[in-house]
Amino acid sequence: SFEVVAAASGKAVTVAGDESIVQALVRIGIDIPVSCEQGVCGTCLCTVLEGEPEHRDVYLTDEERADNDQILVCCSRARSARLVLDI
Ligand code: FES
Repeated sequence: SFEVVAAASGKAVTVAGDESIVQALVRIGIDIPVSCEQGVCGTCLCTVLEGEPEHRDVYLTDEERADNDQILVCCSRARSARLVLDI
């Protein structure tokens, strides 16, 4: 598991191993718009302020992945214990 901090909302949630970031955020009242939920369409793109994403999408380019400042929250996870998102 890892923690996601929603910086703009001032809330945080722990993402369990069997759920997505999107599903965890719903529990604290934050609804991220999704479409494909498979990392393909880019609808759920969020800005990363701190932490290192574990990219599991096929939407970002290699260069965008390496920058660690964007994440597709329907399917990607975290390498760091904590991810701070601009949401
Ligand atoms: Fe399509 Fe996340 S909903 S990439």
